[in-house]
Amino acid sequence: MRNISTLRQEHKEIAQMVEEIRPMLNEKDLAIKPLAKTAHDMLCDIVKKISDHVEGEDKDLYPSLLVSDDPKIKSVAWGFKSGEQSLRRALGDYQKKWLKNCDFDFTQAFIDDTLDLFERLGTRVEQEEKILFPRLEHAGIGAEAIPE
Ligand SMILES: [Fe+2]
Repeated sequence: MRNISTLRQEHKEIAQMVEEIRPMLNEKDLAIKPLAKTAHDMLCDIVKKISDHVEGEDKDLYPSLLVSDDPKIKSVAWGFKSGEQSLRRALGDYQKKWLKNCDFDFTQAFIDDTLDLFERLGTRVEQEEKILFPRLEHAGIGAEAIPE
């Protein structure tokens, strides 16, 4: 089971993975097949890590919040849950479009889509860290309510 500090830690790990791959995302490097293959593998790992994280939030974080007695917590949780569904869809689409086949001919369109996905993810993580988690911690929900 995850608690808020586990989720924060996962955000850090994801951000680190994203920063590691970012310098490789240019047409010049991706024209070199072994580099493109490495980038492909790293992106598969990142997408898996994000999917596990999002699934974890869905399983360990939202269920208790959606039935909270505090209407504010309940409403913010619904908002975040629907945002999460759109991130999940974006991840699935990206995976199908770019990571399904071992096709390492990465184009500018691939780079643009990847950077878009990272941007979406970054916004999401920032909202959780700046809005959701502090609100939960303020309400006394957090470490205890989401058992490890
Ligand atoms: Fe998250």
